[in-house]
Amino acid sequence: MKTTIIVTGAAGFIGSHTCDRLLVEGHRVIGVDDLSSGRAANLEDASRDPGFAFEGFDLRAPGRFSALVEAARPAAIIHLAGLVSVQASIRDPRLNFSLNLELTHLVAEAAREQAVPRVVFASSAAIYGDFPHLPLREDIAPQPLTPYGAAKAASEQLLLGHARTYGFVARCQRYFNVFGPRQDPASPYSGVIAIFLDRMQAARSPVIYGDGGQTRDFVAVQDVARANVLAATRPGLASGVVNICSGRSTRLNDLAAALAAATGFGGPVTHAGAKPGDIRHSAGDPGRAREQLGFACEWSLADALAALAHSTRPAVAKS
Ligand SMILES: NC(=O)c1ccc[n+]([C@@H]2O[C@H](COP(=O)([O-])OP(=O)(O)OC[C@H]3O[C@@H](n4cnc5c(N)ncnc54)[C@H](O)[C@@H]3O)[C@@H](O)[C@H]2O)c1
Repeated sequence: MKTTIIVTGAAGFIGSHTCDRLLVEGHRVIGVDDLSSGRAANLEDASRDPGFAFEGFDLRAPGRFSALVEAARPAAIIHLAGLVSVQASIRDPRLNFSLNLELTHLVAEAAREQAVPRVVFASSAAIYGDFPHLPLREDIAPQPLTPYGAAKAASEQLLLGHARTYGFVARCQRYFNVFGPRQDPASPYSGVIAIFLDRMQAARSPVIYGDGGQTRDFVAVQDVARANVLAATRPGLASGVVNICSGRSTRLNDLAAALAAATGFGGPVTHAGAKPGDIRHSAGDPGRAREQLGFACEWSLADALAALAHSTRPAVAKS
């Protein structure tokens, strides 16, 4: 059934792909964003669709979000707005609290007041901390190492508690390392793939901190968007928490080699000292998302990297 869905953080990296996917599936979408880290250009495709409307305001503006939800009566809210940088959360825990926990409460309250049936929340693998036994499963007790991870863990509990008390469905999606088009390589906190790709396309060596033997579970943003749509629209879902991951473990050295192959970069990779606090290995168990959402990644890492390199190829080839 086609429905109206509100997406917060719509102009961001994951939000814009989520809007695109909802529109392709025929839903009406209202995107909310204050453009603090997102970009209007990310919504160029969505804005051409008559089923899309954009509301540009800070979610904390008193009464604005609640009034929007009251007027739109959405079937679901997909809550993606937040402070995405772990480092920024360490530097400014107050801002982290405001954007990664208070906003969640505001969304939960709007869902309660306006009887929204479902809320989907952008959680993170950061809540697992540096848990040593892989793959990471959802029933591990959260041990976040940063204000960012702590706010994501608290947000999950807040939403699940509200959902139980007030009778809506909360779906918490623990994204692993998301990558793909529209991820901003200019941000020092951006994903490693966006930064490596940007450097290789400028014929500059990527820098690996540490020996490159550390592993990550990379998941293509197109797959994450599809998982968000499933969580918002799949009939009969109860509240729950799932990993949104590929289940594949990729060494950073192998990632650099795959990106070099995708871009034609022939230069060396530079190594620098390991970053303090850097997690050594991370990989998620995708089993529960498969059971509950019917979700599995469709993009292989190689295909997604090739498509990304193609879509971001510089207009003039650099010598
Ligand atoms: N990118 C990843 O690898 C990753 C991994 C795990 C979890 N997440 C989570 O997914 C969500 C989306 O991440 P992203 O990578 O797309 O980040 P992003 O910064 O591109 O998107 C966040 C969006 O929220 C908007 N926003 C922030 N504060 C707002 C406010 N007060 N009012 C209205 N809009 C506001 C920003 O302008 C931005 O467009 C975040 O909650 C993030 O913590 C991302």
